Amino acid sequence: MNLGVNIDHIAVLREARKTNEPDPLDAVPIVARCGAHQITIHLREDRRHINDDDVEKIIRYSKLPVNLECSIDPDIIEKVAKLRPYRATIVPEKREEVTTEGGLDIATYHSRLDSVVHYLKANDIEVSLFIDPTIEMIRASKVLMVDWVELHTGAYANIHSMLYSNLRYTHNFIKELDIQRRELEKMLRDSMNKLALAASEADEFGIKVAAGHGLNYQNVKDIASINFIEELNIGQSIIARSVFVGLEQAIKDILELIN
Ligand code: PXP
Repeated sequence: MNLGVNIDHIAVLREARKTNEPDPLDAVPIVARCGAHQITIHLREDRRHINDDDVEKIIRYSKLPVNLECSIDPDIIEKVAKLRPYRATIVPEKREEVTTEGGLDIATYHSRLDSVVHYLKANDIEVSLFIDPTIEMIRASKVLMVDWVELHTGAYANIHSMLYSNLRYTHNFIKELDIQRRELEKMLRDSMNKLALAASEADEFGIKVAAGHGLNYQNVKDIASINFIEELNIGQSIIARSVFVGLEQAIKDILELIN
């Protein structure tokens, strides 16, 4: 299983003070040294964390492939085409959201996505779509002839943390309502099944499969065991753990879990 380390949150910390440290570029050789496979970054339209200068330097100096997440905004796509990352992952983006909340709405944006995918591929960039794990989305991705899909694991991660998070209020709440717990267990199984089905459908179409969002040290093992998922992109939980154990140890710990 390959690991893409999303280093956006290093820039989040820098932007909390609008200063120049910590610099996400400094994380790049550490990620490579630990045996991870890819650097993942998101150039958001509002530049709330990673900025244009970061992307340019990270692509120039990274020895690992760079997976650049971006929206379909015309200015962003122009930049991405010029920057030539190894891969572009197209994600939905809303200014008011805290993080990418769901997968792409391919039906609504089909024609724009079609031209974006062609344009990026013509610039020698692998293209991935960040989608919800449904058969419809896999089929729509096939029509768009993308190289990769990245399955959104946010729903799975939310249910997992409602069930197993050690947050006391959640735990007590579930204990009091046993039915609720059983219901959540069923929801968790269903969300795993959806991911597994979507991954196998994508594989049948010859589309490579990544997954990500909300994955952490508690919930990642089950996702890593799903057939045909060959890459996980993980950010927040790795950077959060690195505050206490250092980035190198945090990456090694997650690599051990997923392999
Ligand atoms: N994959 C994609 C497409 C994302 O948008 C994100 C969040 O930026 C991630 C993976 C990483 O999510 P998390 O920070 O929750 O691990």
